[in-house]
Amino acid sequence: MNNFIFYSPTEFVFGKDTEKRTAEMIAKYHGTKVLIVYGGGSVVRSGLLDKIKRILDGAHIAHVELGGIQPNPTDPKVYEGIGLGRREQIDFLLPVGGGSVIDTAKAIACGIPYEGDFWDFYSGKATPQKAVRLGVVLTIPAAGSEGSGNSVITKTDGLRKLSLRTPEVLRPAFAIMNPELTFTLPAWQTACGVTDMMAHIMERYFTNTEEVEVPDRMCEGTLKAIIAEARKVMRHPHDYGARANLMWAGTIAHNGTCGVGCEEDWASHFMEHEISAVYNVTHGAGLAVIFPAWLTYMAGHHAKKAAQFACRVWDVPESDDKKAMALEGVERMKAFFREIGMPTSFRELGIEHPDIGLLVKKLHENKGERVGNYLPLDSRATREIYEIANR
Ligand code: NZQ
Ligand code: ZN
Repeated sequence: MNNFIFYSPTEFVFGKDTEKRTAEMIAKYHGTKVLIVYGGGSVVRSGLLDKIKRILDGAHIAHVELGGIQPNPTDPKVYEGIGLGRREQIDFLLPVGGGSVIDTAKAIACGIPYEGDFWDFYSGKATPQKAVRLGVVLTIPAAGSEGSGNSVITKTDGLRKLSLRTPEVLRPAFAIMNPELTFTLPAWQTACGVTDMMAHIMERYFTNTEEVEVPDRMCEGTLKAIIAEARKVMRHPHDYGARANLMWAGTIAHNGTCGVGCEEDWASHFMEHEISAVYNVTHGAGLAVIFPAWLTYMAGHHAKKAAQFACRVWDVPESDDKKAMALEGVERMKAFFREIGMPTSFRELGIEHPDIGLLVKKLHENKGERVGNYLPLDSRATREIYEIANR
């Protein structure tokens, strides 16, 4: 196991009715004027936004709001939020929604005190030194942004979807997580979230770091639990227990708990980000296409961990033929994705003729000559993986 620092200071307030504690939590972290950020309308339709505003009013906490954040969030809303936040002199951000809303709020949070362009942080020109504090009310378990210091934004000009990773500055002070708020999720979004949290675990699990039995078993156990709970939720969307398990799984999948002490991979995520940047598909659905293709490639080139994954997560019997084991694992994973309604090829994702040349070019422009760590991939390898996804 590698040396590591595990520091995950977000205060998680989990369970039924926990959104009632929003004002109390904001006050605890010294918020006095709040910018509420939300998405395309689900929190308006469910009544959650009004409820939160009433709770803040009741506690005499001033607030302004920025709605209309779209999935795969883009820079114009960030600039709008930075302008609004500065004009209104807000001192706290409250995203109410999923990863897109939270990531936009994080970009606004570090953009407000910065004199330059917030995009400097995403393009790697600068590192945020400070940010307006934020707390989260989560409505979809998926991206894990409620417990991470990461944010992913697309620059409309050039369609560059880039991530910023600054755990010390951008990790939410608190995350309110009421599984009942996820009852309204459409099956598609539920399944996309399930796929994304599984992918976050797999990016950590596929490592060359040796002697990681505890992280491995945590990854495998959490993946098995997600698979079982997802099946329940697809059948019974109002199953509180299953929704609760999925909600917590989404957080631990990405807050560092799984894969602690391991070198992480992330090639599949970077490859997917190019797909969702160019074709504006849902991130989780893009991962359901790319991860099996990546794993198929690994079966042929670096099968060791892929065979263990097949055996321990997908119950493929042990054999001396590691490649065959790994490939059977891929088939079982794809069958599960199909079962929950996910696509497993570009065509099923609605992209008949993907511009693979463009995806490969953008990927290596953004991420360098080699991508990932489990088996660093050059442009020949990433092209082959995109082509496997196009079969
Ligand atoms: O916009 P509204 O109307 O609110 O609807 C949303 C949206 O259409 C809907 N939704 C959310 N909660 C709901 C609901 N509908 C009904 N009932 C509810 N309770 O779900 C749709 C998707 O929301 P979004 O926030 O886009 O989902 P997610 O949490 O999957 O976030 C995806 C974004 O996060 C990025 C992705 O690339 C993508 O841009 N990621 C962020 C990461 C991070 N910050 O650490 C890591 C991830 O790997 C990922 O890249
Ligand atoms: Zn993801």
